[in-house]
Amino acid sequence: MVSSPAVCHLRAGGVSLVLDLARSLPRIVHWGADLGELSDPQLQQLVLGSYRQTVANQPDRTPWVSVLPENSQGWVGTPGLEGHRGGRHFSTQFATTGIRRDTDPDGTERVTTQAADAVAGLGLELSLELLPSGLARLRVGLTNLAADPYTLNGLLLAWPLPQQAQEVLDFTGKHGRERAPQRHPLTHGTYLREGRHGRTGTDATLLLLAGEAGFGFRQGAVWGIHAAWSGNHRMLVERGSGTETILAGGELLLPGEIELGPGETYASPWLYASYGQGLDELSARFHHFVRATRPPEIRPVTGNCWEAVYFDHRLDRLTELADAFAEVGVERFVLDDGWFRHRRDDHAGLGDWYVDETVWPGGLHPLVDHVRGLGLEFGLWVEPEMINVDSDLARAHPEWILAPGDRLPLEWRHQQVLNVGHPAAWSYLFERLDALITEYDLTYLKWDHNRDLLEPGSQLTGRAGVHAQTLAVYRLIDELKAAHPRLQIESCSAGGGRADLAILGRTDRVWTSDCTDAHERQVIQRYTGLIIPPELLGAHISADPNHQTWRRLTLAMRAATAMFGDLGVEWNVARLDADERRELAEWIATYKQWRPLLHGGTVVRLDHPDPAVCAHGVVAADGHAGLFLVTLAETSVYGPPGLLRLGGLSPHASYRLEPLPATRRVVAAWPGTPPPWWEPGLTLSGQGLMQYGFQLPDVPPDTPLLFAVTRVDGGPGRRPTSDTTINKGELP
Ligand code: DGJ
Repeated sequence: MVSSPAVCHLRAGGVSLVLDLARSLPRIVHWGADLGELSDPQLQQLVLGSYRQTVANQPDRTPWVSVLPENSQGWVGTPGLEGHRGGRHFSTQFATTGIRRDTDPDGTERVTTQAADAVAGLGLELSLELLPSGLARLRVGLTNLAADPYTLNGLLLAWPLPQQAQEVLDFTGKHGRERAPQRHPLTHGTYLREGRHGRTGTDATLLLLAGEAGFGFRQGAVWGIHAAWSGNHRMLVERGSGTETILAGGELLLPGEIELGPGETYASPWLYASYGQGLDELSARFHHFVRATRPPEIRPVTGNCWEAVYFDHRLDRLTELADAFAEVGVERFVLDDGWFRHRRDDHAGLGDWYVDETVWPGGLHPLVDHVRGLGLEFGLWVEPEMINVDSDLARAHPEWILAPGDRLPLEWRHQQVLNVGHPAAWSYLFERLDALITEYDLTYLKWDHNRDLLEPGSQLTGRAGVHAQTLAVYRLIDELKAAHPRLQIESCSAGGGRADLAILGRTDRVWTSDCTDAHERQVIQRYTGLIIPPELLGAHISADPNHQTWRRLTLAMRAATAMFGDLGVEWNVARLDADERRELAEWIATYKQWRPLLHGGTVVRLDHPDPAVCAHGVVAADGHAGLFLVTLAETSVYGPPGLLRLGGLSPHASYRLEPLPATRRVVAAWPGTPPPWWEPGLTLSGQGLMQYGFQLPDVPPDTPLLFAVTRVDGGPGRRPTSDTTINKGELP
């Protein structure tokens, strides 16, 4: 227990959290840069200095803005808790009944607060954690302590923003263009982003961020939140006329969706919060967390047949494709949409999760055996939450469709949504998926979800069902994985429509976007990658011209872009001539050579004064090497584009900078003389490369420049150490 009046100082990964627990629910006094070791009196002084005076025409007691802001504490912004009991108890005043602080063996710091409002008949348990990387998270369990039902309308948790946060960054998007950034000044009022798609959403703001004016990837303090929830959600940034500013988020509840019976508890999703000096630092905290939750592994190169054959499933074509995939270095074959009963196009069959006997008279075995015979893994596409009205399942169980009751929702890609919250529908899905996984010994499912949930009512209860649907899908995945521990799942939702930390906590890869155009992918991967590390972002080399945009790009550009994700091929490689196959195989071999570094290192995105320059890379965790990719999104207004300053290197180490051979070939083919350093390469200190940089060659847009940096002064991640020192057996 923490003594009262209580102040808590949590520190981890360069971040400090100071909590004031004195008056009511925890108030976060400071969330940001590490404040160093502070004695109790120093902490008390810090908190004392945070209290502001009361000015004219304000409550006589200073507002107390806790992590669940309450009107009863003088907060007149968006309330943390909204609900009522038959119209009463619309406002709460929670009193803390217990506070516990503990530390996990991995260094996670946790403060758990119990509180109750005896009049409103509500109790809550708030968990605040600071993880070893400096990533923080908050969640709450709200319990109805009274004998009559409590209707919960909404619950938002809040993180405070300091006054120097002056600019907001969030994301929008659509199918094929996920995570498009948008920035604007942080003004007074509420900036609200809601996701009402019944899934995370292609336009969802993965993060809602605010920072110092002009913050970038490598500079400027920035704070951001992420709601780990795959259903409806709300995120807001709010600044009132006092200095208080909050970033808040949580689940968005539809009318009547949650009614807590006596003793029932609503568990909120985790609301993650990350701070950084620049977006890269903020992002690295997420990557550290995501990586820490899964065992390291070599991720196989995927060959997906979707853009190669679409619905045209024929054993001979697919075995031929598998042969070609194997020849170029693919390590996993994924059979996409089109293999199950009645699924000859996208109008029918969803829900009928039996192998189609007309197309596959011997089941999938001949293909699976062939693929495995080539030494490749086999994976299968499914879309369990969906149902076509033209399916045996819908004919047998029309009551399993999510619908408001008296009508079916609008169709979307000719399909409806199955009510996975319906116990019988859930059991049907579990039985079917379990049977398929068992029969074909599947270790990989691509789990798709191609539409929004419109009018998502349960025909069983008549109530809105997104909350129940989301939890039921989580349970379905969890139980399938428990039954099949080797199973990996790719989260796809018409591309990146379900990319969040809750789905990622139970899946193993995200299909970043249906847009495989490498030019567009520069931005999509860059921003989806803010919370998801590169090895979990599916990035496929596809056909030229591109199927989504008809843009023509070289294989070099397509491959170099895919290298910075979880590389795959989604292209009819069987139709390529020998030269094209050889070139593709060379790229895949280069990727495999760099894969351990790319999939475990620190992601670096570079700020450049010319917005046309798109530059990023990955540096090994110990700083011994890195790989950077530079492209121009359009012609630079400068000629040549100018100096590029790298990031993420050890400042005192000496590095060799060289273009990869493929980059040398590309630049040699372009008229003009490259900069003088080009042929010999450069040997420079990390500091020199990061503070001064080097001249980029002038190349056309979408020409990939790949640079390797390798430490040449001896020890990885260390300052230069003389041989004598090492021989003396001293620790470097
Ligand atoms: C949408 C996915 O994003 C695609 O990759 C593909 O799997 C199709 N669905 C299949 O219907």
